Amino acid sequence: MRFDFFYNFLASLGYNHPVHPILVHITIGLVVASFLFALVATVPRYSKFAVTARHCTTLAAMTVPLTFLAGIMDWQHFYAGAWTGTFKAKLTLGSVLIALLATGVFLSRRLAYRSPGIYAVYLAAFLTVVGLGYYGGELVHSGAEPASAESGGGSSGDAAATDQDGEVAYTQIDSIMQSRCVSCHSTGNPIWGLDASSYEALMDGSKNGPIVEPGNPADSELVKRIKGITQPQMPLGGSPLSEQQVQRIERWIEQGAPGPDGEPASGSEAG
Ligand code: HEC
Repeated sequence: MRFDFFYNFLASLGYNHPVHPILVHITIGLVVASFLFALVATVPRYSKFAVTARHCTTLAAMTVPLTFLAGIMDWQHFYAGAWTGTFKAKLTLGSVLIALLATGVFLSRRLAYRSPGIYAVYLAAFLTVVGLGYYGGELVHSGAEPASAESGGGSSGDAAATDQDGEVAYTQIDSIMQSRCVSCHSTGNPIWGLDASSYEALMDGSKNGPIVEPGNPADSELVKRIKGITQPQMPLGGSPLSEQQVQRIERWIEQGAPGPDGEPASGSEAG
């Protein structure tokens, strides 16, 4: 299920980002706070902080369903519901957290403020949140290597200087795809039907058809996406490609999008 109406509404207000990261800090903050207040409360003269810990858990339990829902919506909208290990982990841990916080609220009605059962819940919720943060980081960082990871041929100066009007080989394009795109567009996980891991697959395009129009970069969806002419811009959620990488891809397409054998793509007279 898609939530386009919701994101279109946000876009009409000028907001084009995921929603989950905003809410997640509220929930995480409260879970961490309740754990820390509970720790402080183990010191007898600070025992009244156990009440604070309990209040934080109650608030966390109230916010977590919204945070979870926003995560699901972002996942559907920005990641096309890609069923990868990271998302599996996040969904599992998110469900665990909801269950833990509900348990915490339930137990706090029955058990004393500083009973071991309550403490076990605070600790478990804290560790779950650490795990969620870890996978969240993985999501943001995979495919967001710094521009220095780009260089096409590898050896000296090549990357910096070549790109005036020399020929662009497919291997240079491939190295950009491998470092920035295949985390989401691979054979095993071709989001939007697009597999960028090989020349043939790349030229096959997405579920909407070809994304490379040999000889015609301006009409190629690939170029529109990396320049952000079509939104959302690629690579999704990561820093944009460098100016130089964009130009390299444009020139490669202009030259007929030659494959690993150096032959221009069939039908390259188009345009
Ligand atoms: C984090 C995951 C992710 C990364 C990384 C990523 N993409 Fe995408 N890509 C998507 C999703 C999700 C869509 C569908 C977006 C939409 O239109 O709603 C998409 C759509 C596209 C499309 C549009 C296909 C069409 O026919 O409309 C192109 C082209 C594309 N990506 C190219 C790239 C390129 C090139 C890179 C690397 C520079 C890249 N993507 C990196 C997730 C990703």
